[in-house]
Amino acid sequence: MTPQSDSNTNHGIESRPDRMPESIPYHIGIIMDGNGRWAQARGLPRLAGHRAGVDNIRRILEQCVRRGVKVLTIYAFSTENWQRPPDEVSGLMRLLGLTIQRQLDDLHRNGVRILHSGRMEGIHKELQKQIVRALQITQHNDRIILNVAFNYGGRAELVDAVRRIIQDGIAPEALSEELLSSYMYVGGLPDPDLIIRTGGEWRLSNFLIWQAAYAEYYTTPTYWPDFDERELDRALDEYSQRERRFGRVPKP
Ligand code: FPP
Repeated sequence: MTPQSDSNTNHGIESRPDRMPESIPYHIGIIMDGNGRWAQARGLPRLAGHRAGVDNIRRILEQCVRRGVKVLTIYAFSTENWQRPPDEVSGLMRLLGLTIQRQLDDLHRNGVRILHSGRMEGIHKELQKQIVRALQITQHNDRIILNVAFNYGGRAELVDAVRRIIQDGIAPEALSEELLSSYMYVGGLPDPDLIIRTGGEWRLSNFLIWQAAYAEYYTTPTYWPDFDERELDRALDEYSQRERRFGRVPKP
């Protein structure tokens, strides 16, 4: 959610340029699964896997910049993750705070704009302040958007959107797909073209369920901390060979 989180806005996000090659996804969403199993395989605590997962975000973000991807949304903490053991939950919260502390200046210098998709309620006040600061400091950057889905659930996002639509007094006949999209946590963000899931499962797990209606899906058994530049390139290669029909018939 943005500093002006109580109203729908496109947050000054540029729409997808027409000249962007179709073979490159403009927006990638990643379900970063497998941190726990990565750690377990090394006899380490699960949090060590999450720490390695955080290090990997930077590596993949940089590769996205090299490949011309303009938006990367990462699923960092879901509304369902509160049900994990309390020490893992508090560890993940601490990890986000530490990551902002350690990496914000460098991300800012490198032109990364940070956005947040998710509920602020439930997040510790201090961490909320850190998130808002990261959004504000980087708001004019345009090299790449890193949208962090934290305390995020796709169903919660729809419920929150409908609540705000009702609060804004929108008439039922004024409701459209475009309008509903603009009420998502980050209105104006182009829908993801490609959803990648590491760790081998074939599930969306409540990630971008509205926005991913026509996204291409890619899954790999590789655990997130091991998903490197070559793995991303493999996903991009596969994406470039997909034919996206959006419900139409194949091109002749
Ligand atoms: C799933 O691995 C991963 C998560 C719960 C979220 C991913 C979190 C990170 C990469 C670290 C936190 C990120 C930030 C920005 C603070 P899992 O634990 O479900 O792995 P498993 O399926 O092997 O158990």
